[in-house]
Amino acid sequence: MSFLDLPLMLKLKFKMIKSDKKIIIAIDGYSSSGKSTLAKEIAQLLNYKYIDSGAMYRAVTLFALRNNLINPKNHAVDIVKLKDSINQIHINFKYNSLKNNHDTYLNNENIEEEIREMNVSNNVSFISKISFIRQKMVRIQQDMGKEKGIVMDGRDIGTVVFPNAELKIFMNAKAEVRAERRYLELKEKNINVSYEEILENVKKRDHIDETRDESPLKKAFDSVDLDNSNLNKEEQLEHIIGLVKERIK
Ligand code: DC
Repeated sequence: MSFLDLPLMLKLKFKMIKSDKKIIIAIDGYSSSGKSTLAKEIAQLLNYKYIDSGAMYRAVTLFALRNNLINPKNHAVDIVKLKDSINQIHINFKYNSLKNNHDTYLNNENIEEEIREMNVSNNVSFISKISFIRQKMVRIQQDMGKEKGIVMDGRDIGTVVFPNAELKIFMNAKAEVRAERRYLELKEKNINVSYEEILENVKKRDHIDETRDESPLKKAFDSVDLDNSNLNKEEQLEHIIGLVKERIK
């Protein structure tokens, strides 16, 4: 959704905020809980940078798949070779005005579409639990937030990447609701996959994300809970705008 598509009331509510104070907004939560949609909208309203940290782990996974550093059948990772090639992985984001999206690039190649496919989704949890990968990603992410004025979404943003973020949001929705959303998203992109397959992937990733040793998905003690199973987009955004206003005044 672009700023122009946002309901007039919300735009006006935001226009009334005059503040030079820049903050960090960390949005964590379960897969497909709508983190990136919300993060993008907030970034647009505030004119902040938006970073999808999950896309970075997906990019590393694609690199590993392409270079046979992970076996897609049993998810075994060649840790030694992956570590040796870590400096060959360069990830960045570029704004795509046609899609109103910050596309992900791996070594200067646009991989935005490819990293959303099921082979990446099915393997990403096995890459994102590796400690040296997380350390590298966290370092890059912290660098991106040095100047503040950033909205970042992921799993460990409020707990590890930006423990001092001024606003932390923890999002959740029922697994079935999240799987349905992801199913519709992929269908729209003509990616052929069944609802059941997605539901299974969502549940499996929840489990791995929550139980891994390295930076497991957990709510920061000072984050605001947002279960959006029964909230529409406007209600959700309005609620968050209220929270942002309190922090930048
Ligand atoms: O947000 P997503 O579903 O695109 O994230 C892909 C995977 O990356 C997800 O299974 C967990 C992992 N991830 C992570 O471990 N830490 C983050 N900050 C973001 C994502």
